[in-house]
Amino acid sequence: MPVSAALQALRPRLPFVPDLAIVLGSGLGALADSPEAKAGVSVPFTDLPGFPAPTVAGHGGRLVFCEFEGRKVVLQAGRFHFYEGHPMALVTAPMRIYGRLGVKAVLLTNAAGALNTAFGVGELMALTDHLNFFGTNPLIGPNVAPGPRFPDMTAIYDPAFRARLQACARDLGQTLREGVYLGLTGPSYETPAEIRAFRTLGADAVGMSTVPEAIVARHEGLRVAGISCLCNMAAGLLPQPLTHQEVLEAGAAAADRFEALVRAFVRGLEL
Ligand code: HPA
Repeated sequence: MPVSAALQALRPRLPFVPDLAIVLGSGLGALADSPEAKAGVSVPFTDLPGFPAPTVAGHGGRLVFCEFEGRKVVLQAGRFHFYEGHPMALVTAPMRIYGRLGVKAVLLTNAAGALNTAFGVGELMALTDHLNFFGTNPLIGPNVAPGPRFPDMTAIYDPAFRARLQACARDLGQTLREGVYLGLTGPSYETPAEIRAFRTLGADAVGMSTVPEAIVARHEGLRVAGISCLCNMAAGLLPQPLTHQEVLEAGAAAADRFEALVRAFVRGLEL
């Protein structure tokens, strides 16, 4: 994945260097059509060499550079998933680009299934940590300088950002859960036996993204925050099969709360 070619195409179109990147997962996509985004500069993925059009229907992937809650941000609508057959280098290419541009922090959002039975469908969860079950690591291969060969992942999800998310949720009267996100390839959902195993391993939520991006963002020196929208109870926890449709519906139902939390987080954020 030629990050440098994509950067070369992107730089002349940048209105500014953003401080913060926000990756919009299921449930937050509408932010890319917000008034702020409409007033910004939109760059379709397909304008960047090496970036294919996303295969998941409905969203044209794009980067939107805009003023958002008083900050210069880039909103990333659409992401590349490993289950689409893309190499990790492409899955994580946006993080490399943000690092190279001088972006200071990234907020990764996603839809996930809840394993913790104290949590409910439609609730939001700040990531405290993750379990990498992709069976690979996006840093495999020659080290990308200046990141370290063996980067520390002790506080991959920035503790100050987590505290700020909690404070914002409190001010909004929202419940914000906290927990460990287990990332795996998909695209099949998990079996009930897998979910039982993952619960004993300490996972609170499970999903098919975020982990590779968080690792590469840290390698680039970005501060990272992560929020999951818990769109379903994980396989076997309820006496019914999982459908992508219910995930989408729960994401849509949580969208306003999700957006309010993200806006509050960005407003007045110190970077
Ligand atoms: N499993 C994996 N990925 C998901 C789920 C799930 O239950 N829900 C949303 N994304």
